[in-house]
Amino acid sequence: MDYFELAKQKFEALRTKKDVLVLSVESSCDETAVALVKNGREVLANIVSSQIDIHKLFGGVVPEVASRNHIKNITGVLNEALAESGKTLQDVDAVAVTYGAGLVGALLVGVNFAKTLAYALKVPLIAVSHVHGHIGANYISHKDLEPPFLCLMVSGGHTALVQVKDFCDFHVLGSTADDSVGECFDKVARVLGLSYPGGPNIEKLARTGKNNVKFNYSCPLGGSLDFSFSGLKTAVVNFVHTKEQKNEEFSKADVANSFQELAIDELATKTALALKKTGAKKLVIAGGVGANGRLRERLALDCEKLGGKMYAPDLKFCTDNAAMIGSIAFYYIRAGKGLADLTLTAVPTVRIDG
Ligand code: KG4
Ligand code: ZN
Repeated sequence: MDYFELAKQKFEALRTKKDVLVLSVESSCDETAVALVKNGREVLANIVSSQIDIHKLFGGVVPEVASRNHIKNITGVLNEALAESGKTLQDVDAVAVTYGAGLVGALLVGVNFAKTLAYALKVPLIAVSHVHGHIGANYISHKDLEPPFLCLMVSGGHTALVQVKDFCDFHVLGSTADDSVGECFDKVARVLGLSYPGGPNIEKLARTGKNNVKFNYSCPLGGSLDFSFSGLKTAVVNFVHTKEQKNEEFSKADVANSFQELAIDELATKTALALKKTGAKKLVIAGGVGANGRLRERLALDCEKLGGKMYAPDLKFCTDNAAMIGSIAFYYIRAGKGLADLTLTAVPTVRIDG
């Protein structure tokens, strides 16, 4: 029987099999990651090889450099993950891989690696959306969490409010009209001379500053569930450039703090509006910016005021990793979704509700 016919049969059987072990691969940006996850919730191994130190030298991710390093690292990361899990390749029921969104060259390394593994092991190949993976991170950290809930998706590429009606049923209520909030953090960090990745460094610097800088900015799109961050980004960049041109002193920590408060306020205001509109009592945070302590603090407080509860992944599952891909892949399998054949390729963008 040819590979895909066999994979289809095995995929059908996995929809009801008691225990499902997924080997997952993630290479969408600058982390090479492999995980082994049982039944979507139990992480047996989660190995992440970060290229941050390499890309720091360039002030951001260089796509070609990322792809080459994924190739160098991926076999070692797989072997480490297998060793940590105590499992062998023969124990694996399915191979899951991020096929988008992300850097196409980087994604292709993971996609081809996963295809090869799935073919050699004669198990189904599951094509996973990176953004769904970020939501899946929460199922690992909160064992009892189940949809329906409202999700605030704040990754480097996406800023959106998503109604998660079921494990694989996503409805976008609002998204960004221009930049993502992560891009905005990264750009502001750059203009303040902070190293890549910008988000965590802004958060760190903001702790020593005050919320006392007035930028030439007013929040657009009031009342709607869509976001806009390019105006805020430009206002902060202009503020810093003007100060530098005039040789006027200013506190970078105060700029970081004031910017962060505005960005978080924009996210929190729209999130509260969506909670009220939908009546949702559970708010789930997903994506790298969700690692921000101030954002978590503010949203947890807002949720409490509205009689709801906030959920966020443990920090190690918040930024890119493969365990989150293995988690959501389990729910794809249960829903009969995501089975891919060997023509699977990488895509730079994906629809959250696709
Ligand atoms: O979800 P993610 O790891 O990758 C994508 O899927 O894009 O998100 C990366 C983004 C970057 O913009 C990074 O600066 C931001 O998440 N980030 C943070 C923090 N940690 C990571 N932003 C604000 N505060 C943080 N602590
Ligand atoms: Zn991500």
